Amino acid sequence: MTTNEKIVLVFGATGQQGGSVATALRAAGWAVRAFVRDAEGEKAKTLAAAGCQLAKGNLGDQYAIEAAMAGVYGVFSVQPSSGQGDAYGVSDAQEIAYATMIADAAQVAGVGHFVYSSINAAGDRATGMGHFDSKIAVETYLASLPMPITVVRPSAFMEILMLPGLGLDQASLSFFMRPDQPMQFIAAADIGRIIAMVLARPERFVGRTMEIASDFITGEQLAAKLSQAAEQTISYQRFPDAMLAENPFLRRLAALVDEGRLAGSADLDELRALVPDLYTFDSWLAGPGKSLLKEALRAETGALSLR
Ligand SMILES: NC(=O)c1ccc[n+]([C@@H]2O[C@H](COP(=O)([O-])OP(=O)(O)OC[C@H]3O[C@@H](n4cnc5c(N)ncnc54)[C@H](OP(=O)(O)O)[C@@H]3O)[C@@H](O)[C@H]2O)c1
Repeated sequence: MTTNEKIVLVFGATGQQGGSVATALRAAGWAVRAFVRDAEGEKAKTLAAAGCQLAKGNLGDQYAIEAAMAGVYGVFSVQPSSGQGDAYGVSDAQEIAYATMIADAAQVAGVGHFVYSSINAAGDRATGMGHFDSKIAVETYLASLPMPITVVRPSAFMEILMLPGLGLDQASLSFFMRPDQPMQFIAAADIGRIIAMVLARPERFVGRTMEIASDFITGEQLAAKLSQAAEQTISYQRFPDAMLAENPFLRRLAALVDEGRLAGSADLDELRALVPDLYTFDSWLAGPGKSLLKEALRAETGALSLR
């Protein structure tokens, strides 16, 4: 079968990661089956217009997941998490249950290449963050399955910096790293482009667990690059100590950046060899980030809600 005829089943296809994967796979000539819960929604219609088949279902619906696996060569598996606040109301246990059910269905269907999207902070030791340790549990489960699997561990998304509550509307961005501390970020669009290469080269990537990122940036660099793109001065500081002291969620995330686990250690040279025009933060700000930055600068000051 040529790439054109092989079907990849993409979960979360109306979201950031799955949407990026569906787009990149279609561009590379794969047949894509997008798992969506609302086949009549605008995002599903856009996927269909881009040539994706639609498989309607809910992540809690084992029958729908098994049915969607029919005739599939590859699977891209990503789940919503408790770290996304109230967006989906998912518990860590549910995230694990969704992910293991998808993996079990893929194994029964004899899938040729299963790609699971985890988090860069995952590893041998627990992180103390529920929605990261859930991914460690899923990775451990996957390791027990005799199925051709690649685990990718994305860094923080560039898109996250544009969220309300991080201060861009006040021209003063706060995030986890110290001003001189580098942290890896990935453009959502690069997730798909990297995964399209991973699926195209099973002989190289099956059996691997790899961090993925697009660029390494310090807080000071963020401020300089954002100021240039916005044509106004934007300052950067780490979340204030008082704020971290009273917010255990943010405090633990900041500690994981300090410990290096959330700062990221993706091999950017290898990734750039794979996708030569991987986004830098500058090229992202001039491309897919341009409208997001414009919107963030103009947004009403909002409560911090990481997604
Ligand atoms: N943000 C970051 O910096 C970052 C970094 C690394 C890893 N992550 C991880 O990325 C994951 C989220 O990925 P994302 O950002 O691509 O998510 P997203 O953009 O919020 O999209 C979530 C997707 O899941 C679908 N979905 C949610 N609940 C569903 C259900 N019950 N049944 C079927 N589909 C359902 C949504 O469909 P609808 O359109 O129908 O809602 C949507 O397609 C989380 O596990 C997070 O921990 C995030």
